[in-house]
Amino acid sequence: MLNKLQTLYRHIIEEERKIPEATGQLSDLLGDIALACKVISLEVNRAGLIDILGMTGEKNVQGEEVKKLDDYANTLLKRIMQMGGHACALCSEEEETFVPIDEVYNDFSHKYIVHFDPLDGSSNIDANISIGTIFSIYKRISTKGPGTIEDCLQPGYRQVAAGYVVYGSSTIMVYTAGKGVHGFTLDPSVGEFLLSYRNMTTPKKSKTYSANEGNYGKWSSGMRKYIDYLKASDGKTGRPYSSRYVGSLVADFHRNLLYGGIFIYPADEKNRNGKLRLMYEANPLAFIVEQAGGRATNGEKRILDIQPESLHQRTPLFIGSEDDVVQAEKFLLFENGKEF
Ligand code: AHG
Ligand code: MN
Ligand code: MN
Repeated sequence: MLNKLQTLYRHIIEEERKIPEATGQLSDLLGDIALACKVISLEVNRAGLIDILGMTGEKNVQGEEVKKLDDYANTLLKRIMQMGGHACALCSEEEETFVPIDEVYNDFSHKYIVHFDPLDGSSNIDANISIGTIFSIYKRISTKGPGTIEDCLQPGYRQVAAGYVVYGSSTIMVYTAGKGVHGFTLDPSVGEFLLSYRNMTTPKKSKTYSANEGNYGKWSSGMRKYIDYLKASDGKTGRPYSSRYVGSLVADFHRNLLYGGIFIYPADEKNRNGKLRLMYEANPLAFIVEQAGGRATNGEKRILDIQPESLHQRTPLFIGSEDDVVQAEKFLLFENGKEF
């Protein structure tokens, strides 16, 4: 039972006040992102009513078709953060390279790098299935002027904050600034995100896995054995597991965070690095899951320890309840480097 009505912005400010050297810039930046996501939420809800559905006919840097809402969300996030004056570079899944930003006010204020997936699960838009926005914030390494590629390519353990918004049966924003994970539900009548989950923790072990099993035939033998193991009956270890796969990472992740579960997008014989992007998807969710007591790995290494080499780098991803991720690692361990 919550005893106090708390808005997202007030919560962020109160959290930041606990850090003596904090300047309030991070609170403002998170506030900018929340504002953009409120507007995106509105557009997502209106998407069926106005002529915004369908393809633009263009492809993004990953070679995938871009839907109009992806463009819209990308442009809006960029615009709001450019005007906000707290970011020195923006890196988006929908942009070929990073967008450097010169200072709006002064060097001191624009010290952050933001990575984002403006719309995750966009193939689900037309079907009224939950989609989302994912973001990740780092401090710059350089000291002045627009951010550089070195600022943008920092390993995930250096994130200062990360979060996501799910546009689902309600709109919810979940974020961490390294002091627990907190969730806020958007009250559309007042236009505020209100605290609905304080200090979220994820179950240590679950009964659910989320994977695109259509790829089974392309997986390594270790990966196939792991899924076979989850499907086999064994009362003592709570098997068989249930399968739940929305096809929007952010929605699958959110459900698993709340109820427990492991989300899996492994490498396969065609995609040797899996499908998901390290900077826009894996790192922010890995930061959140660890803060909630869970675990995230690429099968060999902790996601947050991977040194990125390029902005759009992909990674295999095993993320969720700790015991389940550890179990998956055991199946994958013996075969690393030798499979396919
Ligand atoms: P995006 O819409 O940002 O391109 O991301 C789609 C991702 C992710 O959300 C989802 O989990 C995964 O693609 C689904 O992939 P499959 O269709 O291969 O299962
Ligand atoms: Mn995505
Ligand atoms: Mn996307």
